[in-house]
Amino acid sequence: MAALDLKEYLKEKKKLVDKFLDDYLPKADVHPKTLHEAMRYSLFAGGKRVRPILCIASCEAVGGDIDTVLPVASAIELIHTYSLIHDDLPAMDNDDYRRGRLTNHKMYGEAIAILAGDALLTMAFDMLADHKLNSRLDSDSLLSIIKTLASASGSAGMVGGQAADIQASGKEVNLPEVEYIHIHKTGALIRASVCIGAIAGAGSKGERPFAPTLDALTRYGECIGLAFQIADDVLDIEGSRDEIGKDVGSDIAKEKVTYPSVIGISESKNLSKELIGKAIEAISTLGEKAEPLREIARYIIERKS
Ligand code: IPE
Ligand code: IPE
Ligand code: MG
Ligand code: MG
Ligand code: MG
Repeated sequence: MAALDLKEYLKEKKKLVDKFLDDYLPKADVHPKTLHEAMRYSLFAGGKRVRPILCIASCEAVGGDIDTVLPVASAIELIHTYSLIHDDLPAMDNDDYRRGRLTNHKMYGEAIAILAGDALLTMAFDMLADHKLNSRLDSDSLLSIIKTLASASGSAGMVGGQAADIQASGKEVNLPEVEYIHIHKTGALIRASVCIGAIAGAGSKGERPFAPTLDALTRYGECIGLAFQIADDVLDIEGSRDEIGKDVGSDIAKEKVTYPSVIGISESKNLSKELIGKAIEAISTLGEKAEPLREIARYIIERKS
């Protein structure tokens, strides 16, 4: 098989997700217009779509088909975008730039930004619970996907990590605490994206995921999830604003707890490399169909945006 062109792979999958979401979301002129405009403003600001792409790649790694997983993968992006809108709010990280443009609250005010986030979060589950949209999946698979996504998004996952992140700001914290924050605020949704892809992939063949394969993919998701946030912390120091689409130095300015602040920048880079090695090792038995997952793992710590 020819070597995978990752850039092309990411571009092609992103296009599919963007098209699906654009068709699904209410148009900006649908009442209440400002709310729909604000939801679209952040959603179509050019995110990388890493989580839905991971979900698709995981589905394909278990031999599933892309049409089955596309609505499910796209729902994950709605949750991620909501988390970004809320993360930027003055009461949270108080940031002005996101995805290369003004943050949602800077454009529409705090009330609409909060509501746009709420609506995106709710829409994700509306999308998943839609039998017509997900007619290729049986109810058990769909329920398992909904449960996985809900757990990863709430207080046991992303929101829990965000709460710990906010409460740790400005304080001295140790390595286990920053690990907790990162695994939850970012790792949980990334891990869930990979698991959901496997559930949808098996479901598309009328099966349940093979337990050892799901375990391997879960381990992969955990390792890349933590590495992703460490890389984000490093980019906040070493990245360029043009490339990351958000202000550089925001973490130091806001005394955020990050891996570089706890173990230093070079140790952070070493650790993220180690995690990527472990992620690739975890899926070593999955064969050629898992090649995109291996390439995405490498990309996660090499990316400039
Ligand atoms: C940013 O996520 C927030 C984190 C969890 C680190 P991404 O780096 O995936 O942001 P987008 O979606 O491409 O804008
Ligand atoms: C955010 O972490 C994690 C989320 C759940 C959104 P950060 O606060 O570091 O993300 P950025 O740097 O603002 O994208
Ligand atoms: Mg934050
Ligand atoms: Mg932030
Ligand atoms: Mg950050």
